[in-house]
Parts: sequence; C-alpha cells; structure tokens
Amino acid sequence: MRCQLMICAVLGLFLTFPIKINDAVVFKFTNIVGESYNQSWFVYHNYRLKAVSRNKVLLNINGTILHPVNDASIHGRIFKKANGYKPWLFDIYIDACQYLRKRNQPVANIVYGLFKQFSNINHSCPYVGPQIIKDFYLRPELLRIPMPTGDYLLALQWYFDKKLQFDTNVSFTFVEDLMKSK
Ligand SMILES: *[C@@H]1O[C@H](CO)[C@@H](O)[C@H](O)[C@H]1NC(C)=O
Ligand SMILES: *[C@@H]1O[C@H](CO)[C@@H](O)[C@H](O)[C@H]1NC(C)=O
Ligand SMILES: *[C@@H]1O[C@H](CO)[C@@H](O)[C@H](O)[C@H]1NC(C)=O
Ligand SMILES: *[C@@H]1O[C@H](CO)[C@@H](O)[C@H](O)[C@H]1NC(C)=O
Repeated sequence: MRCQLMICAVLGLFLTFPIKINDAVVFKFTNIVGESYNQSWFVYHNYRLKAVSRNKVLLNINGTILHPVNDASIHGRIFKKANGYKPWLFDIYIDACQYLRKRNQPVANIVYGLFKQFSNINHSCPYVGPQIIKDFYLRPELLRIPMPTGDYLLALQWYFDKKLQFDTNVSFTFVEDLMKSK
C-alpha cells in the first residue's frame, strides 16, 4: 500500500473514533466513465447517473464477468480538480480477494461501506457473472474523513490475474457545510 505513514496515522485516528466530522450539504455524483480493455473477460452493458433531486444522484452499473476471477486487484486513486485533476491523498493498490476476506484497508472500508448495500459485489472471490450496482447514492454521514469542498475523481482500475481489465472512473462533488462546522 502506497499510503504514506502520516496519512495512514491521521486516517487511522479518524476511523478509530466514530465522531461526526462531516456535515456536508452536497455529496453527489457528477460523472461516470467506464471502459473494458478485455471484452472477453469483462463487458459493461451500461453505466449511468440519474438525478432524482438537486442533491441526490443515483449511480447504476451493469456489467458481466465472463470467466471466474480468483485473483483481482484494484488500483485506486483520488484526484481533486484544480486546473485539471491533481492527485489527492490516496493512491493505493488493493488485493480485492484478500480485502473481501479481511476488510483490513481503511480507505477501502470507506468506499466499500458507501456502496456495499447497493451492489451484488458484496461477497468474496471468485467473481463471475452479472456485476450490478443499483441506485447507489452518496451519504456524507458514512464518509468519516475530513474533505475540503471541491470536485473529485475516484479512478478505479481493475486487474484480473495482474492484467488491467477495466476502468471505473467516478466524479463527485463535495461541499462542506461551513455553518455547521463552526
Ligand atoms: C480513468 O482515470 C485515469 C486517471 O485519470 C485515467 O488514466 C484513465 O484513462 C481513465 N479511464 C477512462 C476510461 O477514462
Ligand atoms: C483477456 O481475457 C481472457 C479470458 O477471457 C484471458 O485469458 C486473457 O489473459 C485476458 N487478456 C489480458 C491481456 O488480460
Ligand atoms: C444487465 O444487462 C444485461 C444485458 O443487456 C441484461 O440482460 C440484464 O437484464 C441487465 N441487468 C440489470 C439488473 O439491469
Ligand atoms: C449485498 O447486496 C444485496 C443487494 O444485491 C443486499 O440486499 C445486501 O443487503 C447486501 N449485503 C450487505 C452486507 O451489504
């Protein structure tokens, strides 16, 4: 894991104490882009966002894994927009099969905690068949890390057998509630 010591320590602190540190007024998806680099192993049927209100946007993904996967890893990065997207805090590699058995990665715990109830990806390896994310929306109360107001991109690159298979890039907006955080 390429998370630096200080960042890990600070993050560990926030995750250890379940205090409410986020009062976001807006935390919503703004874009999704996916691409398969090996159509004989993973195909996207569709992915889309649907705004149901001003601050609630639903994310849907429908894809299929065509052969069982026992070795999956994820390269996850977060970028923050500032004259283009600049790397922001997290650049990590996760052994997905091991993670799903042990849940031992604090950053992954946040992302997984946000989406697990909206997806059938919430089980352990092997993975095969339909991979569905349905009506997933972001809930700031589950974020539990301090985040400055801004536009972000979460770039996930999925590797099977150590080879890049597909990308899932999701952009989102986060706006702090400055009134409440006083
Ligand atoms: C996803 O984002 C990463 C990082 O910016 C980029 O390298 C990759 O090409 C993007 N993938 C797609 C399908 O846009
Ligand atoms: C593409 O997927 C097939 C399985 O259908 C696999 O055997 C092959 O190694 C994959 N190729 C790459 C470059 O990942
Ligand atoms: C996903 O897409 C496939 C192929 O188009 C379709 O048969 C299936 O019903 C879709 N699943 C969901 C949950 O939308
Ligand atoms: C896993 O996803 C299903 C929906 O596909 C959901 O009903 C179930 O509650 C989820 N399990 C967990 C542990 O989140």
